[in-house]
Amino acid sequence: MLLGVNIDHIATLREARAINDPDPLEAIFIAKRAGAHQITMHLREDRRHIHDLDIQNIIQSSFLPINVECSINPQIIELLLNLKPQRVTLVPENREEITTEGGLDIQANYQKIQEILQAFHSINTEVSLFIDADIEQICAAKEVGAEIVELHTGSYANLHLMLFSNLSRTQHSLKSLELPRASLKELYEKSIQNLQNSAKEAKWLGLEVAAGHGLNYTNLTPILKIPEIFELNIGQSIIARAIFSGLEQAIKDMLALMQHKPN
Ligand code: PXP
Repeated sequence: MLLGVNIDHIATLREARAINDPDPLEAIFIAKRAGAHQITMHLREDRRHIHDLDIQNIIQSSFLPINVECSINPQIIELLLNLKPQRVTLVPENREEITTEGGLDIQANYQKIQEILQAFHSINTEVSLFIDADIEQICAAKEVGAEIVELHTGSYANLHLMLFSNLSRTQHSLKSLELPRASLKELYEKSIQNLQNSAKEAKWLGLEVAAGHGLNYTNLTPILKIPEIFELNIGQSIIARAIFSGLEQAIKDMLALMQHKPN
């Protein structure tokens, strides 16, 4: 399974002081040395972390494939059509959110997404659609012409947190807290089953299947057991660990977990 390292939060730290330190560009050399397979970045409409110049510099300097997550905003699409990353991942975006909440609604934006796909395909940029583990969205992704889907693992990751972790810092963002533990367990198991079924359906339709959001060093095992998933995009947990262990070690630790075949 391949690892895309999401480097947004290196830029988040830089923006805390609005200076050029730490520089996300430096991360691409360390990620390559550590064995990562891809660099992932989200160019948000509000430019809260990654900026246009980061994308430009990183595309020019990287010997790893670059996957840029973005909304379907016309200005962002225009900019990325000029910068030509290897892949774009279309995601929903909402200004108030802390991080991407939920997957893309393909049916609601069908024509726009179809036009964007055609434009990127004409410059040989592959397109992935970030969607919930939902069979209707998978079928729509195939029909609209995507070649890759990235399954949103956020609900699974939240349920894992609620079941297995100390909740003190996360309670505010989690919705099903009032549920008794047995119901949480049921929801948790259902979230894994949805990911399994969606991955299977997507692969059957000829789509490549990636996954990401909220994945960390403690919740990977059920995801690693889904054979159709070829790639994980992971950011926050790697950058958080990097503060204490260094980025190269944090990436190597994640790769070691990914290479360990769970029973
Ligand atoms: N994949 C997509 C499409 C995302 O939007 C994000 C968050 O930017 C990630 C993966 C990485 O999520 P996390 O930072 O929670 O690992």
